[in-house]
Amino acid sequence: VIAAAGSGERLGAGGPKAFVELAGRPMLGWSLLAFNEAQSVAQIVIASPPGMEERVEELAGEAGVEVRVVEGGEHRSESVAYALIQADQDLVVVHDAARPLVTAELIDAIVARLAADEEMAGVIAAAPVTDTIKEASISRRVIKTPERSRLWAVQTPQVFRRAALERALDVSAEVLAQATDDAWLVERTGGRVRVVESDATNLKVTTPHDLRVAEFLLRERG
Ligand code: CTP
Ligand code: MG
Repeated sequence: VIAAAGSGERLGAGGPKAFVELAGRPMLGWSLLAFNEAQSVAQIVIASPPGMEERVEELAGEAGVEVRVVEGGEHRSESVAYALIQADQDLVVVHDAARPLVTAELIDAIVARLAADEEMAGVIAAAPVTDTIKEASISRRVIKTPERSRLWAVQTPQVFRRAALERALDVSAEVLAQATDDAWLVERTGGRVRVVESDATNLKVTTPHDLRVAEFLLRERG
């Protein structure tokens, strides 16, 4: 499942982020190539910006990748829930189109890890945190400094057992709106989640600065 239905407000490119040109192809195209190349992926479902489903189909056609396209929701988790309905597999990888530097190796690695561990509901890609992180109150008074060696900056792809993800997404619209990743929804419904170490280069394109960094890294990759 690729979540690509966002409007890209913070990037400010005048349209949805998924279609923004990046190192010679639309941003979504990079994720499509990685998912198409991954051995563990049998089917790709894309949540599209509402009303732009045809453009997403065209984009996939140009990349030579077979996909199913569904209309996205108001919030990210709703988009994932709508796409999940169209996904047929028992293990479901969820990925943000906003992370164009994802690789087939990373996708295959998290799927293999989940397949090997019956006890786990999900396996997520994450990078060790390099900044010192502070928790502060609303008035910005520092409350605590969590031990950095145990902190992970969470990314996508994230892979889940289908039943666990369905249960996780079957919650109120308020909770869905609050979720910044699917793993949190799985955790709060009792699912065990494990982290697989990934590279910080699998960055999320949010701002124009991120777009420039992603452009550089993709061109460097060749
Ligand atoms: N997303 C989605 N459906 C939504 C909102 C977001 O599928 N209703 C997807 C985005 O397309 C993106 C990912 O979730 O791939 C992460 O969201 P974000 O980086 O916040 O993207 P946007 O919501 O597009 O950006 P912004 O918040 O700046 O508007
Ligand atoms: Mg957003």
